[in-house]
Amino acid sequence: MTGRAVVVGVGHYLPSRVVPNAEFEATLDTTDEWIRSRSGIERRHFAADDETTSDLATHAARAALADAGMEAGDIDAIVLATSTADLTFPSAATMVQASLGMTRGFAFDVQAVCAGFVYALANANALILSGQAKRVLVIGAETFSRIMDWTDRSTCVLFGDGAGALVLEEQEGTGSSDDRGILATDLNSDGRHRDLLYVDGGVSTQSTGHLRMQGNQVFRHAVEKLAKTAETALGKVGLHSDDVDWIVPHQANIRIIQGTAKKMGLPMDRVVVTVQDHGNTSAASIPLALSVGKARGQLKQGDLVVTEAIGGGLAWGSVVLRW
Ligand code: UT7
Repeated sequence: MTGRAVVVGVGHYLPSRVVPNAEFEATLDTTDEWIRSRSGIERRHFAADDETTSDLATHAARAALADAGMEAGDIDAIVLATSTADLTFPSAATMVQASLGMTRGFAFDVQAVCAGFVYALANANALILSGQAKRVLVIGAETFSRIMDWTDRSTCVLFGDGAGALVLEEQEGTGSSDDRGILATDLNSDGRHRDLLYVDGGVSTQSTGHLRMQGNQVFRHAVEKLAKTAETALGKVGLHSDDVDWIVPHQANIRIIQGTAKKMGLPMDRVVVTVQDHGNTSAASIPLALSVGKARGQLKQGDLVVTEAIGGGLAWGSVVLRW
């Protein structure tokens, strides 16, 4: 028998303020039509001034725990993917731990920008497979609205705030790709491309900074690398694109999502798409899409799901799991 990290609960949270594309037309040389046609985004949510990343994460975590029929005390570890933590330290994960009233176990953040949730899932899977934890809350939560340059139309119209969470639990599997749970992971980064997407500030440079992106360059890397990482992860367990029921991609741009599906030879009716409603929520986008995909009745127990993401670093990767 083989231990498997199985998804037993999922949930999400979106701040109440919804910002339609048209709102940017008042302050920027842009249009709803440009944003829709170039990115697929129609609206996004922005956190209130007093709402932090750990607040969003806590709401999503509670929803996932409720879905799993569990309480905070049942959880051994929290792995939280974010690039927009409340404070420089402690980690947002320990803040969520305290908010949930979880007084044992351990919690830490993972920072791999838009690929953060894929990295967090791979870490949580490793914790479970190594016997360090039996039940792990894996969260993606971001407040990218805090690092936007509101005068830069090429970036500020693309991002949004939100959080999503999964509960992973160790269950016995047979070792075959028919098992439920995480079947394979593939992680990559290449720091030579760090200038394509970054924040021009940080603790050691003594400022907060704003997000800077050469969007068309990132686009080019995304289309090339995402299908490849998904196929690499599938290949590790002897599976192919044909076996996939759902791609749940990072939600940055509908054209990247369509390009990746096409490269994998999969029709768009096997892709969970939420970019129109959420914009790019960085590490939160995949767990948000998993939660919305389940609520819509798209993801069903036993389905083969592939998640894939790319972002600043560049960092990219994928996770293959049976829902
Ligand atoms: O999540 C992390 C990973 N990030 C991504 O995956 C984002 C990847 N990139 C993208 O999604 C796309 O590249 C964008 C949506 C950012 C841009 O689309 P594009 O088709 O690559 O356009 P572009 O950057 O080549 O710009 C085309 C034109 C430019 O004008 P000129 O130089 O051709 O005159 C831009 O100045 O569109 C202009 N432009 C805008 N026009 C109206 C850029 N932003 C806007 C805007 N409204 N908001």
